[in-house]
Formats: sequence, C-alpha cells, structure tokens
Amino acid sequence: MNRPVITTILTSKIEAPNIKTITFRSPGKVTPGQYFMIWIPGVDEIPMSVSQITPTVIGITFRKVGDATNALFQLQNGAQIGIRGPLGNGFTLTGKHLLFVGGGTGIGMLTPLVEQARKKKLTTTVILGVQTKEQLFFQHRFQRTGATVLVSTDDGSMGYKGFASELAKDVLAKERIDAVYTCGPEQMMTALLSLCKNIPFQASLERYMKCAIGICGQCCVGRGLRVCVDGPIFDGNTLKKIEDFGSYHRDAAGRKIRF
Ligand SMILES: Cc1cc2nc3c(=O)[nH]c(=O)nc-3n(C[C@H](O)[C@H](O)[C@H](O)COP(=O)(O)OP(=O)(O)OC[C@H]3O[C@@H](n4cnc5c(N)ncnc54)[C@H](O)[C@@H]3O)c2cc1C
Ligand code: FES
Repeated sequence: MNRPVITTILTSKIEAPNIKTITFRSPGKVTPGQYFMIWIPGVDEIPMSVSQITPTVIGITFRKVGDATNALFQLQNGAQIGIRGPLGNGFTLTGKHLLFVGGGTGIGMLTPLVEQARKKKLTTTVILGVQTKEQLFFQHRFQRTGATVLVSTDDGSMGYKGFASELAKDVLAKERIDAVYTCGPEQMMTALLSLCKNIPFQASLERYMKCAIGICGQCCVGRGLRVCVDGPIFDGNTLKKIEDFGSYHRDAAGRKIRF
C-alpha cells in the first residue's frame, strides 16, 4: 500500500480546456470519494480522486494547475505512472432523494457516486457549477444515469446564472432533500453547509498531502484530523467544528493560505 505500484495509462481524454481524464487498471475494490496518490516519475506524487470506477478500470480527472498536473497532462496512452491506493474513506449514501453539487474540477469525483446512487434507484438531483459553459464536462455522463441535471455558470452562458450554492438554495426550498454531497471550491461547500441545517451533508476536502498514510501531519485540519486517512470525506457535524474549513489551507511548508 505504501509504495507506488507501476501501472500503464490505458486511455486519456480531454474533457474541457485544461481538464483531462486518464484511466488505468483497477487494483481492486474502490469506493466513490476515495483517491490515489499518483506518482509522475521525475516530477512529483499528487493526490487525485477517482472519477470512474468499473470492475477493471479506474479513471481520474484533473485540471492542469502546476508542475505535476502539467506533466501528467502531457503523458499519452502507454506511459507509465505509479499509483498508491485506493486511499481515504469514501462517501456513504443515505436517504431517498439526494442532492449532489459539484463545482469546477470537483464535478469529476462526484460522477461514480451519482452512478452508484442511480444503481440503487435513488432519486438524484445534480448541480454542476462552472464559471463558463466551455468548462463544463461529464454533463452527458450524469444525464445517462437518469439523474436530474442542472447547470449553473457564473457568467450565465448556460443554465442558471450564478453560483452553484445559490441554485442549490432554490432546489432545497422546492424539494424534500434527504442528504447533500459536494466537492468543489471550499467557499462553495461552506455556503452549502450553512444551508443544510438539519440535512445530512458530506463534502470532500482537499489539503496538501505528503505521506497520505497519516504519519507526517501535513494534511491536518481542525483538532488533528488527517484529511488523508480520516477523510477526505467529512460529514457536516465534523466540518462545523473544523475552524479551517472555508478559511484557510496550508502549503507544502505548512504556512496558512487564506481562501
Ligand atoms: C484528496 C484529494 C483529491 C484530489 N483530487 C483531485 C482531482 O480529482 N482532480 C484535480 O484536478 N485535483 C485534485 N486534487 C488537487 C490536486 O492534488 C492538486 O491540484 C495537485 O496536487 C497540484 O499539483 P501541481 O504540481 O500540478 O501544482 P502546484 O503548483 O504544486 O500546486 C497547485 C495547487 O495544488 C496544491 N497541491 C500541490 N501539491 C499537492 C499535494 N501533494 N497534495 C495536495 N495538494 C497539492 C497546492 O497547494 C496548490 O494549491 C486533489 C487533492 C486532494 C487532497
Ligand atoms: S499527508 Fe501525511 S498525515 Fe496526511
């Protein structure tokens, strides 16, 4: 578990500008919300949540933001990477009518969870929030599951004009929602949490990770919760007690960076 296993990129697909999905052979059972540490030889090892789960193949979907993701973006089918995982806890589905809110790249990792919910015949509403319509991806994958799919764009180029959390407020006012699941910018997730007073809530957190096995303390939030092993999925009650949530994260040197 703690050493990267070398694997081959089976497929790669550009989903939107600067966003790509790559797949590799599944190492075994993987739960939606879990992640892999992806080692790009000679560059870095970075965490990536799963965006595709089949019995044989796992996919990750990522945005080019820096050295490691740029290098991963350049790799073609047949290239070799290292994987450690699956790691972390994953989501737990509860209730009958569920609302999923994905913002930006966070849309990717919600896809296998929505697919799982639909396989269980749960009523599923999905909000996909992006800045502008060109950045939207996976809309058809969500629609194929039979989920109700709503889109929000900050600039109004498609669907609801405004933030995904504002559209979620409308949905929560109109529908009886049993639980909310989210991944995206932390300010979007804190806005959602404030709307979910009595509604079960689960969110995926991103923090800088090094060991990913709970030893180094790099990814700690609140009072000693390690995102790498206690998360990355946290429920609403836990998040309400994490003072960093929506306020700051830490860089590689442990310095606080405000959102
Ligand atoms: C559990 C988890 C799941 C993630 N899943 C996805 C995903 O599915 N798709 C996606 O596009 N991104 C995902 N990320 C974020 C992704 O890991 C970072 O964008 C990536 O590490 C950036 O590396 P870089 O060298 O390209 O950029 P850099 O220029 O090094 O950094 C860009 C940003 O990424 C952060 N970052 C850099 N290295 C790490 C690291 N080792 N751990 C965490 N954050 C880091 C930096 O703090 C900075 O905010 C996830 C992060 C976590 C913690
Ligand atoms: S990354 Fe080392 S404890 Fe979480």
